[in-house]
Amino acid sequence: MEYSTKISERMWNQPDKGELEAEREQTFIDDIVQKAHIEKELLSSLDGIETAFDGGAGSGRFSILLAKHGIQVTHFDISQPMIDKAREIAEKEGVLDRITFVRGELENLSAYEDKAFDLVVSFDAPISYTYPDQERTIKELVRISKKKIIISVSSRLGALPYLANPIQKNQFILDANCDNSWVQWCIASKDQMVKNFSFSKDKLLETYESGLLCDVEETKKAYDNGEVPWSISYHFMPDELENTLKECGVKNISLAGPGAFARTLPNEILVKIMNDPKQKEEFLDFCHMYDSNPYVCGMGKDNLFAKGEIV
Ligand SMILES: C[S@@+](CC[C@H](N)C(=O)[O-])C[C@H]1O[C@@H](n2cnc3c(N)ncnc32)[C@H](O)[C@@H]1O
Repeated sequence: MEYSTKISERMWNQPDKGELEAEREQTFIDDIVQKAHIEKELLSSLDGIETAFDGGAGSGRFSILLAKHGIQVTHFDISQPMIDKAREIAEKEGVLDRITFVRGELENLSAYEDKAFDLVVSFDAPISYTYPDQERTIKELVRISKKKIIISVSSRLGALPYLANPIQKNQFILDANCDNSWVQWCIASKDQMVKNFSFSKDKLLETYESGLLCDVEETKKAYDNGEVPWSISYHFMPDELENTLKECGVKNISLAGPGAFARTLPNEILVKIMNDPKQKEEFLDFCHMYDSNPYVCGMGKDNLFAKGEIV
């Protein structure tokens, strides 16, 4: 097993992971924007789709949505807490009979035949966590798809501003008075983060060239010492993702950068928009359109989104 798989397995199998992931849209506005974008894309892609594979399906944000639209879904993930949370939500939503839960790693999809599913999806970076196997993973996902593939991976151009902004998540806090521990940590540590920060051109250049935010050897060492480091995540350039899909024979590819528009607005304005249902709906529609413009796709907040057809 590659280090990245072992590291992912340990991190994503932390007992609280399922619960934390399921709370994301209640706490952070960038997550609301990203989910709305993917949801719109998914719901407009379901013609002729009866079966779907969701790779790295997490707590079921999209697998359950697909099941609610009558699709037979294979919910595939490396993490048992994620699968347990998804099963609990699927039961509440009355769609358990339309979902097959499978614990497994994306690095090994040999159990599935060519063109096994009408639609293959993988959202919010599971493919990036398969580093250094990310390209082979995409090829395998394309192999098991019969009609369409829709994915989102970590974005290199989108992630670089993180390295120059340790308080980037504060911009997207929905309710500063909520009791979510991450939100409270962001608020409490903001001043200290700014004080400790210094800009390093070399650090940014390293990520710009490698697509990696972390030091791989340090991460491996931490894993070997029994720690729980963040998964190694490979960040794609837009042309690189598009070319990989093209090489696998995917046609009619379009890319997007969910969050590109929202990241231009300050927290006060974003919160105001989110608290008015009419403005929120119009804003999310506009974000979807703006973020789908190929000229901004690299500047999505976290993800680079791609969809295409298998013909
Ligand atoms: C950020 S979450 C996204 C979950 C879901 N796709 C969504 O958008 O809500 C990433 C998911 O990828 C899963 N994951 C990470 N590495 C994986 C791997 N190598 N194989 C399968 N799943 C993996 C994690 O367990 C986690 O559930």
